[in-house]
Amino acid sequence: MEEKIRIYIDAIASFTASDPGEVELFRLKYLGRKGILNELFEEFKLIPNEQKREAGKSLNLLKEAVNKRLEELKEEFARVDVAMKGDVDDLTKPVHHHDPGTRHPLSITRNRIIEIFSRIGYTVAEGPEIEDDWHNFTALNFPPEHPARDMQDTFFIAKDPDIALRTHTSSVQIRTMEREKPPIRKLLPGRVFRNEAISARAHCIFHQVEGLYVDKGVSFADLKQNLLYFAREMFGKDTRIRLRPSYFPFTEPSGEMDISCNICKGEGCNICKYTGWVEILGCGMVDPQVLANCGIDPDVYTGFAFGMGIERVTMLRYQVRDLRLFFENDIRFLEQFRGAR
Ligand code: PHE
Repeated sequence: MEEKIRIYIDAIASFTASDPGEVELFRLKYLGRKGILNELFEEFKLIPNEQKREAGKSLNLLKEAVNKRLEELKEEFARVDVAMKGDVDDLTKPVHHHDPGTRHPLSITRNRIIEIFSRIGYTVAEGPEIEDDWHNFTALNFPPEHPARDMQDTFFIAKDPDIALRTHTSSVQIRTMEREKPPIRKLLPGRVFRNEAISARAHCIFHQVEGLYVDKGVSFADLKQNLLYFAREMFGKDTRIRLRPSYFPFTEPSGEMDISCNICKGEGCNICKYTGWVEILGCGMVDPQVLANCGIDPDVYTGFAFGMGIERVTMLRYQVRDLRLFFENDIRFLEQFRGAR
Protein backbone atom coordinates (compact mmCIF):
# COMPACT_ATOMS: atom_id res chain seq x y z
CA MET A 1 0.00 0.00 0.00
CA GLU A 2 2.74 2.44 0.88
CA GLU A 3 4.49 1.73 -2.41
CA LYS A 4 1.26 2.49 -4.30
CA ILE A 5 0.87 5.75 -2.42
CA ARG A 6 4.44 6.77 -3.27
CA ILE A 7 3.70 6.27 -6.98
CA TYR A 8 0.49 8.33 -6.68
CA ILE A 9 2.34 11.16 -4.96
CA ASP A 10 4.92 11.25 -7.80
CA ALA A 11 2.11 11.26 -10.39
CA ILE A 12 0.35 14.11 -8.57
CA ALA A 13 3.48 16.26 -8.46
CA SER A 14 4.03 15.95 -12.18
CA PHE A 15 0.38 16.31 -13.19
CA THR A 16 -0.44 19.20 -15.50
CA ALA A 17 -3.77 20.33 -16.95
CA SER A 18 -4.52 22.32 -20.09
CA ASP A 19 -7.91 23.61 -18.92
CA PRO A 20 -10.00 23.84 -15.73
CA GLY A 21 -12.04 20.81 -16.88
CA GLU A 22 -8.96 18.61 -16.59
CA VAL A 23 -8.32 19.97 -13.11
CA GLU A 24 -11.81 18.91 -12.08
CA LEU A 25 -11.28 15.41 -13.48
CA PHE A 26 -8.02 15.27 -11.51
CA ARG A 27 -9.89 16.22 -8.34
CA LEU A 28 -12.57 13.59 -8.88
CA LYS A 29 -9.96 10.95 -9.65
CA TYR A 30 -8.45 11.36 -6.19
CA LEU A 31 -11.10 12.94 -4.00
CA GLY A 32 -14.34 11.82 -5.67
CA ARG A 33 -16.74 9.39 -3.97
CA LYS A 34 -15.29 6.52 -5.97
CA GLY A 35 -11.87 8.12 -6.07
CA ILE A 36 -8.45 6.78 -5.17
CA LEU A 37 -8.44 8.14 -1.61
CA ASN A 38 -11.72 6.50 -0.65
CA GLU A 39 -10.52 3.31 -2.27
CA LEU A 40 -7.33 3.43 -0.19
CA PHE A 41 -9.30 4.07 3.00
CA GLU A 42 -11.30 0.94 2.32
CA GLU A 43 -8.02 -0.93 1.93
CA PHE A 44 -6.71 0.73 5.09
CA LYS A 45 -9.52 -0.77 7.14
CA LEU A 46 -8.37 -4.22 6.18
CA ILE A 47 -4.66 -3.98 6.97
CA PRO A 48 -3.29 -5.39 10.23
CA ASN A 49 -3.35 -3.01 13.19
CA GLU A 50 0.42 -2.82 13.65
CA GLN A 51 0.77 -1.48 10.06
CA LYS A 52 -1.97 1.15 10.46
CA ARG A 53 0.28 3.82 11.96
CA GLU A 54 2.65 3.96 8.96
CA ALA A 55 -0.12 3.48 6.39
CA GLY A 56 -2.17 6.29 7.98
CA LYS A 57 0.78 8.68 7.74
CA SER A 58 1.20 7.86 4.03
CA LEU A 59 -2.49 8.36 3.37
CA ASN A 60 -2.36 11.80 4.98
CA LEU A 61 0.67 12.70 2.86
CA LEU A 62 -1.23 11.67 -0.25
CA LYS A 63 -4.25 13.77 0.70
CA GLU A 64 -2.03 16.79 1.34
CA ALA A 65 -0.26 16.29 -2.00
CA VAL A 66 -3.60 16.25 -3.88
CA ASN A 67 -4.90 19.37 -2.13
CA LYS A 68 -1.64 21.25 -2.64
CA ARG A 69 -1.56 20.45 -6.35
CA LEU A 70 -5.21 21.44 -6.72
CA GLU A 71 -4.49 24.81 -5.10
CA GLU A 72 -1.59 25.42 -7.46
CA LEU A 73 -3.60 24.51 -10.54
CA LYS A 74 -6.52 26.71 -9.48
CA GLU A 75 -4.20 29.68 -9.08
CA GLU A 76 -2.61 29.05 -12.45
CA PHE A 77 -5.98 29.07 -14.23
CA ALA A 78 -7.17 32.13 -12.33
CA ARG A 79 -4.18 34.00 -13.79
CA VAL A 80 -4.86 32.70 -17.28
CA ASP A 81 -8.47 33.73 -16.84
CA VAL A 82 -7.48 37.34 -16.16
CA ALA A 83 -5.21 37.35 -19.20
CA MET A 84 -8.00 35.89 -21.34
CA LYS A 85 -10.54 38.59 -20.41
CA GLY A 86 -9.59 40.49 -23.58
CA ASP A 87 -11.33 37.77 -25.62
CA VAL A 88 -8.03 36.86 -27.27
CA ASP A 89 -9.40 33.36 -27.75
CA ASP A 90 -10.98 34.63 -30.99
CA LEU A 91 -8.52 36.73 -32.96
CA THR A 92 -11.13 37.60 -35.60
CA LYS A 93 -13.30 39.46 -33.05
CA PRO A 94 -13.22 43.26 -33.40
CA VAL A 95 -11.11 44.98 -30.76
CA HIS A 96 -12.85 46.56 -27.80
CA HIS A 97 -14.56 49.74 -28.89
CA HIS A 98 -13.22 52.74 -27.02
CA ASP A 99 -15.45 55.73 -27.58
CA PRO A 100 -13.11 58.73 -27.45
CA GLY A 101 -15.78 61.38 -28.07
CA THR A 102 -15.62 63.90 -30.89
CA ARG A 103 -13.97 67.25 -31.33
CA HIS A 104 -16.35 70.19 -31.17
CA PRO A 105 -17.11 71.58 -34.65
CA LEU A 106 -15.83 75.01 -33.59
CA SER A 107 -12.52 73.44 -32.55
CA ILE A 108 -12.32 71.61 -35.85
CA THR A 109 -12.79 74.87 -37.76
CA ARG A 110 -10.39 76.84 -35.53
CA ASN A 111 -7.71 74.18 -35.93
CA ARG A 112 -8.22 74.18 -39.68
CA ILE A 113 -7.95 77.97 -39.91
CA ILE A 114 -4.74 77.86 -37.85
CA GLU A 115 -3.36 75.07 -39.98
CA ILE A 116 -4.06 76.92 -43.25
CA PHE A 117 -2.45 80.15 -42.08
CA SER A 118 0.47 78.41 -40.39
CA ARG A 119 1.52 77.19 -43.82
CA ILE A 120 2.23 80.80 -44.82
CA GLY A 121 4.10 81.72 -41.67
CA TYR A 122 1.44 82.73 -39.12
CA THR A 123 1.89 81.68 -35.51
CA VAL A 124 -0.73 81.75 -32.75
CA ALA A 125 -0.99 84.22 -29.87
CA GLU A 126 -3.68 84.60 -27.25
CA GLY A 127 -4.88 87.28 -24.88
CA PRO A 128 -7.20 87.63 -21.89
CA GLU A 129 -10.99 87.42 -22.14
CA ILE A 130 -11.38 90.10 -19.48
CA GLU A 131 -9.97 93.28 -20.97
CA ASP A 132 -9.43 96.89 -20.11
CA ASP A 133 -10.80 99.78 -22.11
CA TRP A 134 -7.41 100.58 -23.63
CA HIS A 135 -6.90 97.20 -25.34
CA ASN A 136 -10.49 96.56 -26.34
CA PHE A 137 -11.38 100.10 -27.47
CA THR A 138 -9.11 103.10 -26.97
CA ALA A 139 -5.93 101.79 -28.57
CA LEU A 140 -8.07 100.55 -31.46
CA ASN A 141 -9.20 104.11 -32.20
CA PHE A 142 -12.72 103.83 -30.84
CA PRO A 143 -13.67 107.41 -30.05
CA PRO A 144 -15.38 107.77 -26.67
CA GLU A 145 -18.82 108.21 -28.20
CA HIS A 146 -18.59 105.14 -30.45
CA PRO A 147 -21.80 103.05 -30.24
CA ALA A 148 -19.84 99.82 -29.63
CA ARG A 149 -18.91 101.18 -26.23
CA ASP A 150 -22.56 101.38 -25.34
CA MET A 151 -23.79 99.12 -22.53
CA GLN A 152 -25.96 97.47 -25.22
CA ASP A 153 -22.99 95.67 -26.67
CA THR A 154 -20.45 95.25 -23.92
CA PHE A 155 -20.52 93.21 -20.74
CA PHE A 156 -18.82 95.24 -18.04
CA ILE A 157 -17.36 93.62 -14.97
CA ALA A 158 -18.55 94.76 -11.55
CA LYS A 159 -19.83 98.14 -12.81
CA ASP A 160 -16.25 99.19 -13.57
CA PRO A 161 -16.38 101.06 -16.90
CA ASP A 162 -12.72 100.23 -17.46
CA ILE A 163 -12.98 96.43 -17.25
CA ALA A 164 -15.12 94.39 -19.63
CA LEU A 165 -15.36 91.06 -21.41
CA ARG A 166 -13.62 91.62 -24.72
CA THR A 167 -16.02 92.24 -27.58
CA HIS A 168 -13.55 91.12 -30.25
CA THR A 169 -10.13 89.51 -30.57
CA SER A 170 -8.75 92.79 -31.96
CA SER A 171 -7.66 93.52 -28.39
CA VAL A 172 -5.00 90.85 -28.89
CA GLN A 173 -3.67 92.82 -31.89
CA ILE A 174 -2.84 95.62 -29.48
CA ARG A 175 -1.28 93.28 -26.91
CA THR A 176 0.81 91.63 -29.61
CA MET A 177 2.06 94.89 -31.10
CA GLU A 178 2.86 96.30 -27.66
CA ARG A 179 4.95 93.22 -26.91
CA GLU A 180 6.65 92.44 -30.22
CA LYS A 181 8.56 94.35 -32.83
CA PRO A 182 7.85 93.82 -36.55
CA PRO A 183 7.89 91.60 -38.50
CA ILE A 184 4.72 90.36 -36.81
CA ARG A 185 2.65 87.63 -38.42
CA LYS A 186 0.12 86.35 -35.92
CA LEU A 187 -3.14 84.48 -35.74
CA LEU A 188 -5.25 85.37 -32.72
CA PRO A 189 -8.07 82.95 -31.92
CA GLY A 190 -10.39 83.36 -28.97
CA ARG A 191 -13.77 83.68 -27.35
CA VAL A 192 -15.56 87.00 -27.42
CA PHE A 193 -18.64 88.39 -25.70
CA ARG A 194 -21.40 90.75 -26.74
CA ASN A 195 -24.56 91.68 -24.97
CA GLU A 196 -26.91 90.48 -27.68
CA ALA A 197 -30.19 88.60 -27.70
CA ILE A 198 -29.64 84.92 -28.44
CA SER A 199 -31.12 83.75 -31.74
CA ALA A 200 -30.34 81.41 -34.63
CA ARG A 201 -27.93 84.05 -36.00
CA ALA A 202 -26.50 85.71 -32.88
CA HIS A 203 -25.19 84.70 -29.48
CA CYS A 204 -23.76 86.56 -26.52
CA ILE A 205 -20.67 84.29 -26.67
CA PHE A 206 -18.93 83.44 -29.90
CA HIS A 207 -15.47 82.87 -31.31
CA GLN A 208 -13.21 84.81 -33.63
CA VAL A 209 -9.87 84.36 -35.29
CA GLU A 210 -7.94 87.49 -36.07
CA GLY A 211 -4.94 87.77 -38.36
CA LEU A 212 -2.28 90.45 -38.09
CA TYR A 213 0.69 91.12 -40.34
CA VAL A 214 2.98 94.10 -39.73
CA ASP A 215 6.27 94.67 -41.54
CA LYS A 216 7.99 97.06 -43.92
CA GLY A 217 6.14 97.35 -47.21
CA VAL A 218 3.01 95.33 -46.37
CA SER A 219 0.27 96.34 -48.83
CA PHE A 220 -3.38 95.79 -49.50
CA ALA A 221 -2.37 93.43 -52.30
CA ASP A 222 -0.72 91.18 -49.67
CA LEU A 223 -3.92 91.20 -47.65
CA LYS A 224 -6.00 90.27 -50.66
CA GLN A 225 -3.64 87.47 -51.65
CA ASN A 226 -3.56 85.98 -48.14
CA LEU A 227 -7.34 86.05 -47.98
CA LEU A 228 -7.79 84.51 -51.41
CA TYR A 229 -5.40 81.72 -50.45
CA PHE A 230 -7.34 81.15 -47.23
CA ALA A 231 -10.75 81.14 -48.93
CA ARG A 232 -9.65 78.55 -51.46
CA GLU A 233 -8.05 76.29 -48.86
CA MET A 234 -11.07 76.53 -46.60
CA PHE A 235 -13.97 76.42 -49.05
CA GLY A 236 -12.52 74.79 -52.14
CA LYS A 237 -10.32 75.61 -55.11
CA ASP A 238 -13.09 77.27 -57.16
CA THR A 239 -13.98 79.75 -54.44
CA ARG A 240 -13.95 83.38 -55.53
CA ILE A 241 -13.70 86.39 -53.21
CA ARG A 242 -14.85 89.97 -53.39
CA LEU A 243 -13.98 92.88 -51.15
CA ARG A 244 -16.51 95.55 -50.33
CA PRO A 245 -15.53 98.87 -48.73
CA SER A 246 -16.46 98.99 -45.06
CA TYR A 247 -15.55 100.77 -41.85
CA PHE A 248 -13.70 99.79 -38.69
CA PRO A 249 -12.12 102.40 -36.41
CA PHE A 250 -8.79 100.52 -36.34
CA THR A 251 -8.26 99.90 -40.06
CA GLU A 252 -8.00 102.30 -43.00
CA PRO A 253 -9.01 101.46 -45.63
CA SER A 254 -11.39 98.79 -44.34
CA GLY A 255 -13.21 96.07 -46.18
CA GLU A 256 -15.55 93.17 -45.83
CA MET A 257 -14.85 90.01 -47.73
CA ASP A 258 -17.50 87.83 -49.33
CA ILE A 259 -16.89 84.40 -50.78
CA SER A 260 -18.85 82.92 -53.65
CA CYS A 261 -21.57 80.84 -51.98
CA ASN A 262 -20.09 77.41 -51.45
CA ILE A 263 -23.52 75.84 -51.25
CA CYS A 264 -25.11 76.90 -54.53
CA LYS A 265 -21.77 77.75 -56.20
CA GLY A 266 -23.09 81.23 -56.94
CA GLU A 267 -26.36 80.08 -58.50
CA GLY A 268 -28.41 81.59 -55.67
CA CYS A 269 -29.90 79.85 -52.61
CA ASN A 270 -31.42 80.85 -49.30
CA ILE A 271 -28.03 80.72 -47.52
CA CYS A 272 -26.67 83.51 -49.74
CA LYS A 273 -30.13 85.06 -50.01
CA TYR A 274 -29.97 84.52 -53.78
CA THR A 275 -27.01 86.85 -54.20
CA GLY A 276 -24.41 84.14 -54.81
CA TRP A 277 -22.13 85.72 -52.16
CA VAL A 278 -21.77 85.28 -48.40
CA GLU A 279 -19.97 87.62 -46.04
CA ILE A 280 -17.15 86.00 -44.18
CA LEU A 281 -14.80 88.52 -42.57
CA GLY A 282 -13.79 92.08 -41.87
CA CYS A 283 -10.34 93.37 -42.76
CA GLY A 284 -8.21 96.36 -43.62
CA MET A 285 -4.85 98.08 -43.36
CA VAL A 286 -3.94 98.74 -39.72
CA ASP A 287 -4.64 102.43 -39.06
CA PRO A 288 -1.32 104.32 -38.62
CA GLN A 289 -2.66 105.75 -35.37
CA VAL A 290 -3.11 102.21 -34.02
CA LEU A 291 0.48 101.33 -34.90
CA ALA A 292 1.63 104.49 -33.13
CA ASN A 293 -0.52 103.63 -30.08
CA CYS A 294 1.50 100.45 -29.78
CA GLY A 295 4.90 102.07 -30.23
CA ILE A 296 5.39 101.00 -33.84
CA ASP A 297 6.55 103.75 -36.20
CA PRO A 298 3.85 104.14 -38.91
CA ASP A 299 6.32 105.93 -41.18
CA VAL A 300 8.44 102.77 -41.32
CA TYR A 301 5.89 99.98 -41.00
CA THR A 302 2.53 99.11 -42.47
CA GLY A 303 0.26 96.20 -41.69
CA PHE A 304 -3.03 94.52 -42.36
CA ALA A 305 -5.53 92.79 -40.10
CA PHE A 306 -8.56 90.62 -40.65
CA GLY A 307 -11.05 89.00 -38.32
CA MET A 308 -13.66 86.33 -38.81
CA GLY A 309 -16.27 84.52 -36.76
CA ILE A 310 -15.52 80.84 -36.27
CA GLU A 311 -19.24 80.06 -35.91
CA ARG A 312 -19.96 81.66 -39.25
CA VAL A 313 -17.23 79.74 -41.07
CA THR A 314 -18.40 76.50 -39.43
CA MET A 315 -22.03 77.14 -40.39
CA LEU A 316 -21.05 77.67 -44.00
CA ARG A 317 -18.74 74.67 -44.16
CA TYR A 318 -21.15 72.20 -42.61
CA GLN A 319 -24.43 73.92 -43.45
CA VAL A 320 -25.45 74.41 -39.84
CA ARG A 321 -28.58 76.57 -39.78
CA ASP A 322 -28.78 77.54 -36.12
CA LEU A 323 -25.90 79.06 -34.14
CA ARG A 324 -27.37 77.92 -30.82
CA LEU A 325 -26.53 74.32 -31.70
CA PHE A 326 -22.87 75.07 -31.01
CA PHE A 327 -23.58 75.84 -27.36
CA GLU A 328 -26.21 73.27 -26.42
CA ASN A 329 -23.85 70.28 -26.32
CA ASP A 330 -26.49 67.99 -27.78
CA ILE A 331 -24.60 64.80 -28.40
CA ARG A 332 -26.74 64.03 -31.49
CA PHE A 333 -25.39 67.20 -33.08
CA LEU A 334 -21.80 66.86 -31.91
CA GLU A 335 -21.47 63.25 -33.01
CA GLN A 336 -22.13 64.22 -36.61
CA PHE A 337 -18.65 65.73 -36.66
CA ARG A 338 -16.89 62.47 -35.90
CA GLY A 339 -13.89 62.34 -38.25
CA ALA A 340 -14.64 65.76 -39.78
CA ARG A 341 -11.77 68.12 -40.46
N1 PHE B 1 -12.90 93.19 -34.92
C1 PHE B 1 -13.80 93.22 -36.04
C2 PHE B 1 -15.15 92.68 -35.60
O1 PHE B 1 -15.24 92.10 -34.53
C3 PHE B 1 -13.28 92.40 -37.18
C4 PHE B 1 -12.01 92.94 -37.78
C5 PHE B 1 -10.80 92.45 -37.38
C6 PHE B 1 -12.02 93.92 -38.77
C7 PHE B 1 -9.62 92.92 -37.95
C8 PHE B 1 -10.87 94.37 -39.34
C9 PHE B 1 -9.68 93.88 -38.93
O2 PHE B 1 -16.13 92.81 -36.30
